[in-house]
Amino acid sequence: MAKVLVTGGAGFLGSHLCERLVAQGHDVLCVDNYFTGSRANIAHLIGNPRFEIMRHDVTFPLYVEVDQIYNLACPASPIHYQFDPVQTTKTSVHGAINMLGLAKRVKAKILQASTSEVYGDPEIHPQVESYWGHVNPIGLRSCYDEGKRCAETLFFDYWRQHGLRIKVVRIFNTYGPRMHPNDGRVVSNFIVQALGGNDITIYGDGRQTRSFCYVDDLIEAMIRTMNTPNDFTGPINIGNPREFTIRELAEQVIAMTGSRSKLVFEPLPSDDPRQRQPDISLARAVLGWEPTLELRAGLERTIDYFRGHLRAAAE
Ligand SMILES: NC(=O)c1ccc[n+]([C@@H]2O[C@H](COP(=O)([O-])OP(=O)(O)OC[C@H]3O[C@@H](n4cnc5c(N)ncnc54)[C@H](O)[C@@H]3O)[C@@H](O)[C@H]2O)c1
Repeated sequence: MAKVLVTGGAGFLGSHLCERLVAQGHDVLCVDNYFTGSRANIAHLIGNPRFEIMRHDVTFPLYVEVDQIYNLACPASPIHYQFDPVQTTKTSVHGAINMLGLAKRVKAKILQASTSEVYGDPEIHPQVESYWGHVNPIGLRSCYDEGKRCAETLFFDYWRQHGLRIKVVRIFNTYGPRMHPNDGRVVSNFIVQALGGNDITIYGDGRQTRSFCYVDDLIEAMIRTMNTPNDFTGPINIGNPREFTIRELAEQVIAMTGSRSKLVFEPLPSDDPRQRQPDISLARAVLGWEPTLELRAGLERTIDYFRGHLRAAAE
């Protein structure tokens, strides 16, 4: 069993990752500054002797003894990462430098939660890992996209220069319980709007496509990646290749919540990619992995979570 550090452990993905690692018998240190994460996300783990929390900002160095590091700390939705764009870049870049420095000192294996955003507005479809991307370096999304790209660069330079054991996963849209209800991400947005009986806002004409991966599937792939042989670094795409239009998603959420919400259309934000779909051939070959949960089943669990969450918030 390993001592595992999860940065961003109180966030949506991080909390699921901590939960799974604790269940596997690891000692987990969750580090978070609670910018977008919350103690509520990890409340059920508090008191477990294998679980420890530390409030810390990854833009500052950290000195702890661990065997593995999952580096997830970074706001992930446009609303949050554009709130303080300079801090977003710092979190990705200084955070990566600090965590890589730590991994080097204690000889830990380190995994970076990168993103499909490194492909920008892609010119090839679906996206394979060898594609270098089509990213605007000076736009509103750049603090996130370029921050993550620079973090990848740092990971590969630490690997080449210092022989660090690194893994880079490129995560595509993931959804599930504990998503932030107000962060503007499409699945949570639609569910919260539908449950509240409000109109569902679609940016653009709704024909842009996305692929959605359920969180449990994603966490499984992340842990498998961490446990690949040392000569495997990635980058490796993880996500669900099954594509839906945004409009289809909205209609499915309305049907499943029994809501009377109507669809309303607003202009597409700048740099919003029109199409995003992972090629997961590498994940299939190296991890023996592919998503198992259908969108409908995943939406059911997510809608249940938000029903409970909204009820609790109203009380
Ligand atoms: N959810 C997705 O669909 C998705 C897709 C691609 C990539 N990712 C990546 O996965 C990671 C987790 O995303 P998420 O969806 O769970 O988002 P999230 O916002 O729920 O989690 C991020 C966590 O990092 C913490 N954090 C932010 N800045 C920090 C800092 N400076 N120091 C310490 N902690 C800090 C936040 O408080 C939060 O708990 C992110 O790195 C994100 O870029 C997520």
